[in-house]
Amino acid sequence: MVTVKNTYYVTTPLYYVNAKPHIGSAYTTLAADIIARFQRLKGKKVFFLTGTDEHGEKISKAAEEKGKQPKEFLDELVPFYTDYWKKLNISYDGFIRTTDLMHEKAVIKFFKKVYENGDIYLGEYEGYYCVPCETYYSETQLQGEKNCPSCGKKTQLMREQSYFFKLSKYEQALLGYIESTDFVLPESRKNEIVNFIKQGLQDLSISRTSIKWGIPVPMDKSHVIYVWFDALLNYITGIGYGSNSKQFKSIWPADVHLMGKEIVRFHAVIWPAMLLAAGLDLPKKVFGHGWLTVEGEKMSKSKGNFIDPIEVTEKYSVDAFRYFLFREIPFGSDGDYSEKALVQRINSELADGLGNLLNRTVVMVEKYFEGKIPHAVNISKQDKELRDFTLKKSEETDKLIEALEFHRALSSIWEIINASNKYINDQKPWELAKADKKEELGNVLASLSESLRITSILLAPFIPETSEKIQKQLGIEVKKFDEAFKWNLIQKGTKTGKAEILFRKVELEKAGKEKKEKEST
Ligand code: MSP
Repeated sequence: MVTVKNTYYVTTPLYYVNAKPHIGSAYTTLAADIIARFQRLKGKKVFFLTGTDEHGEKISKAAEEKGKQPKEFLDELVPFYTDYWKKLNISYDGFIRTTDLMHEKAVIKFFKKVYENGDIYLGEYEGYYCVPCETYYSETQLQGEKNCPSCGKKTQLMREQSYFFKLSKYEQALLGYIESTDFVLPESRKNEIVNFIKQGLQDLSISRTSIKWGIPVPMDKSHVIYVWFDALLNYITGIGYGSNSKQFKSIWPADVHLMGKEIVRFHAVIWPAMLLAAGLDLPKKVFGHGWLTVEGEKMSKSKGNFIDPIEVTEKYSVDAFRYFLFREIPFGSDGDYSEKALVQRINSELADGLGNLLNRTVVMVEKYFEGKIPHAVNISKQDKELRDFTLKKSEETDKLIEALEFHRALSSIWEIINASNKYINDQKPWELAKADKKEELGNVLASLSESLRITSILLAPFIPETSEKIQKQLGIEVKKFDEAFKWNLIQKGTKTGKAEILFRKVELEKAGKEKKEKEST
């Protein structure tokens, strides 16, 4: 029997394990989590792969600085990643380390295959090498005093025997594919890549004799495989290439590889060429998101302004952090993290907008209907308007998430929340209660419960804990995204749970003070 792809496959880059995760690494991982959760809710079988990039000079240097062997150093740091992802509610299905034996064996297999196909050959390389970026540059690419065009640090002129990958051979195939499809997104990155390829592709040096920490070249053990060639292969080795071909065929090709903009070139040029050389299908999409700054500044070791995502979530909750990042910054553009902006969004959108709406609804159902959600009868024009608006926005949100336009999706969900809050204020259910207009009162609370039910589904990929809390308070449990496209699904007499505050308001001054106190202790 032929195995066919039946799984939606989303990946993050593999993180360099030279320090603990920061909000930049969390950002890519959270975006992948949103996609994975969304596709699962849509009924798809999903495989979400993440992991760690553990070879190369950057890692061995970091280990050396700590007086440790690379593997010992890595084994101490990798648990931070798994632990952080658990705390941030990342629902990954696979976690790959490039030092996993299974990966190493599969990389060797791939290397041999491409060598036998004639796309890898031995030559000599001379170039300007940037150690932090692990990349060679030609003289024309350098900036200023022979500095790296990516990180700005000084490069070193190096010459060594090296195995080369025939990247140039794939120039036209790649150009044709990228220009004619939506393989690279957003559009601005696609243009960058097209221009880059048009300047001409040179063969790529893919082995080093000067570096010891890596996977040896199978036909010449004095070389180790270039860290990017090794790491990119995780996307196939992590799902069974070289070890479980049935699983591999059911998952590959990837539906989307997510990454920051600075590494799109590796994923949109080198990676597809490697796959073509091995006769494998190409991934469907490579999406390069923007960069996060902190209070307007680039994060850096020298500034010491790396933000620890766990510290943020312990103070403000995981969902507030998840919500903020994807509401504040258009996915694909650069954006800024600031505590002030986070607090503002918690207060106005999560606490006032969403929290208040839920609380008012559940408390009134409790007070006026003994905690049983009423069913609508003879609905009014306003009830219909809320229903139609919610359903329209729900369809829109679905499309926006599918298109990875997360901030617009969240904004569309908040239109439902705002419309529902306006509806309460206009309908004044407390006055209907006073006037003993039970039927109208029932209709209002039924409509609000429905709009909240739908909101909870739409929010599930972004803020899963909050979504569950809303459903618990409404006394429902939803497993399918499609239920957001229908009205009146709450069973008559559904018993609500206990009304609880979803998000507490925060005073920014207090938040700042706590931070200073912590720093001075
Ligand atoms: N190890 C390579 C990837 C190999 S994939 C086969 C690597 N690792 S990294 O740890 O440096 O970066 C991993 C991801 O974190 C990238 O997507 C990168 O863009 C993201 N971020 C790191 N700092 C960031 C910000 N300040 N802002 C947003 N994301 C950034 O590259």
